[in-house]
Amino acid sequence: MHYRQLGRTPWKVSDISFGAWAIGGAWGQVSDEESMAALHAAIDCGVNFIDTADVYGDGRSERLIARLKKERREEIVVATKAGRRLPRQTVEGYSRQNLNAWIEDSLRNLAVDSIDLLQLHCPPTALYDDAEVFEMLDDFVKAGKIRYYGVSVEKVDEALKAVEYPNVQTVQIIFNCFRQRPADVFFDRAREKKVGILARVPLASGLLTGKFRADSTFAKDDHRNFNRHGEAFDVGETFSGVDYQTGLRAVDEIRKLVPAGMNMTQLALRWILMFEAVTCAIPGGKRPAQILENCRTSDQAPLSAAAMEQIEQIYKQQIAPQVGSRW
Ligand SMILES: NC(=O)c1ccc[n+]([C@@H]2O[C@H](COP(=O)([O-])OP(=O)(O)OC[C@H]3O[C@@H](n4cnc5c(N)ncnc54)[C@H](OP(=O)(O)O)[C@@H]3O)[C@@H](O)[C@H]2O)c1
Repeated sequence: MHYRQLGRTPWKVSDISFGAWAIGGAWGQVSDEESMAALHAAIDCGVNFIDTADVYGDGRSERLIARLKKERREEIVVATKAGRRLPRQTVEGYSRQNLNAWIEDSLRNLAVDSIDLLQLHCPPTALYDDAEVFEMLDDFVKAGKIRYYGVSVEKVDEALKAVEYPNVQTVQIIFNCFRQRPADVFFDRAREKKVGILARVPLASGLLTGKFRADSTFAKDDHRNFNRHGEAFDVGETFSGVDYQTGLRAVDEIRKLVPAGMNMTQLALRWILMFEAVTCAIPGGKRPAQILENCRTSDQAPLSAAAMEQIEQIYKQQIAPQVGSRW
């Protein structure tokens, strides 16, 4: 496992880290025992950073991570998120009172006195013009409730605004072979500001593993079934907002570029690590075997310049027309 500096925080985190949404909910059934086995497998591989949120299974994901921390001696940095408990996303909803209540909930679920990294969970775009929310977060840092804070964004424009706030340490953004735009318009700015980048949805919700077919089906309570058209939340969070059939066709093209000793999943993750501005990818996973496969990527050889060029071309021709400047 290799480690990268997380912005201006004191932490060096595993470049393949752990996304803990699926072990909370919204991805079909998953047992806590299997989730715990997946978390332990990650720590065994050298993962030292986990991304979660208060709403993943209504605290279930956070509580499993608290259990993990009790069972392990290694230092594990945990980033959680707040804001999605609001029934409707409004800037006013991000009040001191609400933030305090969400933070207290996460402190309880994570069984800690202070949250390592708190991220605003895809707040409305207008929030980035409201310095007051960031001043409140500064106050929570001063009070010792949170150590650092960052944001999770939907759009590149939000990321560009967020890094102008001096104490924003991290930006979490969708970045993968199907979402290349952040590299063009955001990464240089993030590096200038020494802001860490967490690449989320690195496998395009599993599409980039190459395991799906046109007739693959998903459980009723899996967002790859119920949110394909953005019925429950931003459609960009499901298959990165790429139409399923278009995604399958592009994967078939990318698959031809997989080098010897790697598989499609690892190519997708390795592609992300080719960008130095990225601190880590946070692939989700529910089973130990998935975690082992994902973590192995950290030690694999860089992709060739030719492969990078071809993946860019496939993106430009087949994917960008759909997702391009939308996010
Ligand atoms: N708004 C936000 O802030 C936000 C939104 C989305 C995600 N996130 C964060 O980003 C993390 C990652 O994104 P994500 O979980 O949505 O998507 P992802 O990492 O692109 O895909 C994860 C899914 O792919 C499948 N998978 C993973 N490794 C695999 C392997 N080696 N082989 C085969 N299948 C594999 C698993 O599902 P199956 O086995 O069921 O196929 C897994 O749940 C989340 O866990 C969460 O922490 C944040």
